[in-house]
Amino acid sequence: MEKKFKIAIIGCGARSIAYAKNLTAAEEVELVACADPDREHLRTMSSYTAVKEEQLRIYSDWKDLCENEQDLDGVVIATPNYLHHQPAAEIIRRGIPLALEKPLTTTMKDSEYLLEAVRDFRPQLLIGFVLRSTPFYRKIREVVDSGAIGSVISIQADELVTPGVSSVISRSPWRRHTAMSGGTMMEKCSHDMDLINYFAGGRPIAVNSFGGSLLFRPNPNLPRKCADCKVKESCLYYKEPPFSEAAGDATLQKSLNDSMYECIYNIDKDVADNQVVSILYSNGVIANFTLAFNCRGTRGGRNIHIIGTKGRVWGNIDENQIGVCDTLSGQTQIIDIPVTEKGHNGGDRKHAMTLLEMMKDRTFRPDQDAYAGYLSNALCIASDISAAEARQIRFQYDANGFIKFI
Ligand SMILES: NC(=O)c1ccc[n+]([C@@H]2O[C@H](COP(=O)([O-])OP(=O)(O)OC[C@H]3O[C@@H](n4cnc5c(N)ncnc54)[C@H](O)[C@@H]3O)[C@@H](O)[C@H]2O)c1
Repeated sequence: MEKKFKIAIIGCGARSIAYAKNLTAAEEVELVACADPDREHLRTMSSYTAVKEEQLRIYSDWKDLCENEQDLDGVVIATPNYLHHQPAAEIIRRGIPLALEKPLTTTMKDSEYLLEAVRDFRPQLLIGFVLRSTPFYRKIREVVDSGAIGSVISIQADELVTPGVSSVISRSPWRRHTAMSGGTMMEKCSHDMDLINYFAGGRPIAVNSFGGSLLFRPNPNLPRKCADCKVKESCLYYKEPPFSEAAGDATLQKSLNDSMYECIYNIDKDVADNQVVSILYSNGVIANFTLAFNCRGTRGGRNIHIIGTKGRVWGNIDENQIGVCDTLSGQTQIIDIPVTEKGHNGGDRKHAMTLLEMMKDRTFRPDQDAYAGYLSNALCIASDISAAEARQIRFQYDANGFIKFI
């Protein structure tokens, strides 16, 4: 057996499971250490791997992990969003290949702090834009890159969130507060902003957005706790399960969602549940994005439609096929996309394996890098400012690519 790559995970909640499961399934990888202040979460995470808790060196503080683990080949950070930048900067300084969950950070200031560390240390860094690794978006990328639709002119995309996910975002102890999650655009749609950037092929230069809490507004006729609610049995959000695969585990479900059974309308939160965003790119591409909570059934999930000078490509991520229309002939081709793996429509395993690739090849730098995370963040933050202040936000780039909103 060749050398085993020793990895550590910082933040061992629901998301860490996808990494722990996929990475420890590769026999070259050994999970040796974890940091999480909540032992229960860590226990659940390790139960998804063949690694016993007793085999792990466990820390409640990531700083202790960094101080004591001098021999790591790779690190995963999957802490809540506001706790990304500090451990990430430390791992970057140590030159260890890092998979950092999306979003990059929750503020422009923290993002720029990380970008400076990136500039100084040139790390191998993979941001958790797992949808780029799905067969669906890879196929669309292949079509766009092939020139089949000509040059991209406009992009329409949406994310239509199920009641279960709406429930998690609106009730999670950290997701429902902008100070901790960065807001719903940041927590839920940083992926979509990244994908739109990726397909647009230019830098965003202006944003207009509208929206906010349109669905889950406070309702004085409902009590704060579901237990006291007379209409709870007919409420779609009463005990609606969290979205992740880990939701099957009652312990995790409970511990992740202590506030789960507070009224979704009356719980204290400041994040949006519906928003629209229009973007203009430096190369003239225009894009429109809609986020809506509370959507089920056909054409839910994520849809995208890219219109080019010679044709169009479109699809719904859950339908496992895309359409490509050639404008000159008017012919449409439907392309099936077989997806055999679970976890973000087949993206989770491939994404986790990218960290393995980075550990094997210490020159490999994936294109889901810190700057992609920064541009996505800038769009999410600018959208929220635009919606709150009812004005257009323009992006001014300095020589380092840092953005000033004007
Ligand atoms: N790429 C994706 O598609 C995707 C999907 C889900 C979540 N995420 C991201 O993954 C991250 C984690 O999300 P989650 O769903 O696992 O949340 P979670 O709340 O289930 O887990 C977060 C974990 O971090 C731990 N934690 C809190 N403070 C910590 C600290 N100081 N040091 C170490 N650990 C700490 C918590 O105890 C918890 O176990 C978030 O950034 C989220 O946006 C990404």
